[in-house]
Amino acid sequence: MNRNPIIPFILIMAMGIGLIFFMSLEGLNNADEKAKEAEHGEKAGGEGEQASSGEFDPEQAYKDNCLSCHGGNYEGGMGPALKGTDKSVDEIKEIIKNGKSPMPGGLIQDENLDAMAEWIKSLK
Ligand code: HEC
Repeated sequence: MNRNPIIPFILIMAMGIGLIFFMSLEGLNNADEKAKEAEHGEKAGGEGEQASSGEFDPEQAYKDNCLSCHGGNYEGGMGPALKGTDKSVDEIKEIIKNGKSPMPGGLIQDENLDAMAEWIKSLK
């Protein structure tokens, strides 16, 4: 549980820097596309860090809830590696929902279980 407590901070920092860079490029290109962008919502905002628009971002959810045990590259740590797991999507959903000692359940809302499990299954 206390493995590499620094890693989440480094990831968040890297993401922040990437986002700033991305947004400044967008700003240069898109001065006259503002109207269009309003239609497309926060497309240019990209990461959706808080998933506030109701759109679920499995990667962000992973960083918030799972990374400390399953590693910054899904390579495992206190928990097993998630990359290339031999569990099926249904088994993964079950584990995320109910936990599997010592992993806590209920970290992901029920309506997001499908997206989360499929995302994990797609990790390479
Ligand atoms: C407190 C540490 C911890 C956290 C937080 C945690 N896990 Fe786990 N996870 C584990 C451990 C330990 C296991 C192995 C349980 C077992 O097999 O007995 C596990 C098993 C799994 C498995 C099964 C993997 C396999 O191949 O057997 C999946 C999938 C999984 N976790 C996904 C997640 C997801 C998604 C999250 C975040 C929502 C998460 N875990 C959060 C510790 C954790």
